[in-house]
Amino acid sequence: MKQVLVIYYTQSGQLLEIVKNVTQDIEDSKEVSLSFYKIKLKNNFPFPWNKKEFFGTFPESFLQIPTELEDVDNPILQKKYDLIIVAYQVWYLSPSIPINSFLKNKKTKTVLENTPIITVIGCRNMWIMAQEKMKILLTNSKAKLVGNIVLIDKHINHISVITIVQWMFSGVKKKYLGIFPKPGVSEKDITDSKRFGQPILNAILSKKYSNLQKMLVQKKAVKIKPFLVTVDKRANLLFKKWANLIVKKGNKNSPKRIFWLKIFNFYLLFAIWIIAPVVFILYLLTYPFTFLKIKKDKKYYSSVKTK
Ligand SMILES: Cc1cc2nc3c(=O)[nH]c(=O)nc-3n(C[C@H](O)[C@H](O)[C@H](O)COP(=O)(O)O)c2cc1C
Repeated sequence: MKQVLVIYYTQSGQLLEIVKNVTQDIEDSKEVSLSFYKIKLKNNFPFPWNKKEFFGTFPESFLQIPTELEDVDNPILQKKYDLIIVAYQVWYLSPSIPINSFLKNKKTKTVLENTPIITVIGCRNMWIMAQEKMKILLTNSKAKLVGNIVLIDKHINHISVITIVQWMFSGVKKKYLGIFPKPGVSEKDITDSKRFGQPILNAILSKKYSNLQKMLVQKKAVKIKPFLVTVDKRANLLFKKWANLIVKKGNKNSPKRIFWLKIFNFYLLFAIWIIAPVVFILYLLTYPFTFLKIKKDKKYYSSVKTK
């Protein structure tokens, strides 16, 4: 009997819904035993979020500073698995604090050692650099990335910014004002993610993972949007400066830190609504010259290779 573990964290339940669909065929197989483990934190993050907490989590999210976990001695984490699926969301262009904390914790990360890993991402749309950070975390845990499946909100970038904010601050995944589309990953995309189950099951049973990502990509597990890659990379450079500046301003309740987080909040609005459209125009103008680089990037970011 093959053993498969799903490690996940979710606030709204969206990521669990996604990973349940992805693993439906594995669950139904008589040759595989499937277990789920939800990461538990000593101090959980609020959901719905309030503005202070949402922006307050930026420096630690981006700098990948872990928080304390609970339940680290759970027997489920002491076993060895044929495959582990790590399902995570992106917070500020990085793997979210809960998942980052799990992968950095000396006790919990050992479960991943010498084990094939599939990452399943459920986020708004900006995940490229977060997955690069994930590759480093997995290498440091001596784990081997063999597959990656990404589900995003497919609406226009600016629409998804408006709708996700409403969702995160209300806790309800519904049409904002009755006119905006529903936030997050669409119900259809979540249900359709069942299609990834069969190739994963075949890989588990045959113990052959070398071709898995190629097969998942054929089933459209990953779609690279070159413009978002550009934004993600630039934003990472700027976020690094902001996060390092804010983290030096004291603890979470320090007035100086709160003041700088407010400035960051304004900067973020400016970056999304003013800078990003300018970058988009520049991207279009330079497209003929960057075409080959874009092609290379698409291939690399669709793969499970490390630079
Ligand atoms: C604090 C915070 C920051 C986020 N930053 C990003 C981001 O940088 N890129 C992105 O695509 N999604 C981002 N999201 C959306 C999440 O990746 C995710 O889609 C959403 O929180 C729902 O996940 P859940 O399964 O935990 O409910 C962010 C969400 C939160 C709460």
